[in-house]
Amino acid sequence: LKHFLGIEGLSRELLVEILDTAASLMPVNEKAVKKLPLLRGKTIVNLFFEPSTRTRTTFELAAKRLSADVLNFNINASSSSKGETLLDMLNNLEAMQCDMFVVRHDQAGAPFFMAQHVPPHISIVNAGDGRHEHPTQAMLDMFTIRQHKGDFSQLRVAIIGDILHSRVARSQIFALTTLGAAEVRVIAPFTLIPKGIENMGVTVFNRLKAGLKDVDVVMMLRIQRERMRSALLPSEHEYFQYYGLTEDLLMEVHPDAIVMHPGPINRGVEIESSVADGARSVILQQVTNGIAVRMAIMAMVLGRGHEGQSCHSS
Ligand code: CP
Repeated sequence: LKHFLGIEGLSRELLVEILDTAASLMPVNEKAVKKLPLLRGKTIVNLFFEPSTRTRTTFELAAKRLSADVLNFNINASSSSKGETLLDMLNNLEAMQCDMFVVRHDQAGAPFFMAQHVPPHISIVNAGDGRHEHPTQAMLDMFTIRQHKGDFSQLRVAIIGDILHSRVARSQIFALTTLGAAEVRVIAPFTLIPKGIENMGVTVFNRLKAGLKDVDVVMMLRIQRERMRSALLPSEHEYFQYYGLTEDLLMEVHPDAIVMHPGPINRGVEIESSVADGARSVILQQVTNGIAVRMAIMAMVLGRGHEGQSCHSS
């Protein structure tokens, strides 16, 4: 891997290799992953142009557990406010001998643009770009599903909520279909379903109860208010009434089904608190797994396990 920009176009073998590498990095009887020397001498810059709680911190922890030096670049306190362009900022950070940029940006394609402009020894990892992709989130989600369910080929998975604006949903759909999930359903109101999504290999449901029938994995999404025009915004009360996941609705799913959410959660909007904190919820395990999965991806990228191959859509 030279860069890790998206799930679209990646092979099943590569996704499985990431999951297997992450599994080899998971602690067996200890709470924390042991520190490894794999990226000693490397410098990784977290370049987040949008807010983040989980992604930025788990990338930082993952890099530190691989013995890399980490720079958390504070965009708000940087000279971008004085008119410095993104490429000039990158060139200056490169001049400090950085090896990898972990990039979150509100513009779809920003990490791809950066990957086209950095010198060959520098790698870019996409930490979420606009509505486009959030590939490391999807990989930690796949890791969590595999941990609980093993084989993907028998699985019915439902992704519920604001599919239209969700980079997480797009990356999850690419990952689930590539890994061979038996059925991927998306459940949302008409206004929050992108046109032509059936072409991605999913089945569309507009009614939550029908879509949840017998699924093994329930993946909830937050409403992305920051990416919506006000005309599209549903009221929170109304949204919860029709698309909120409640304990009653869990009667419809497979008895062993798990409930996932990438976070941040809006309790009482897309999910009832008792479900988010309930016995089926693996939401905090997703966060924990993010460390090992991001360690695996950074080690594979900077270790140049597949020299010259770039992880992005072809
Ligand atoms: N899931 C996710 O991307 O969370 P953050 O925005 O807190 O990083």
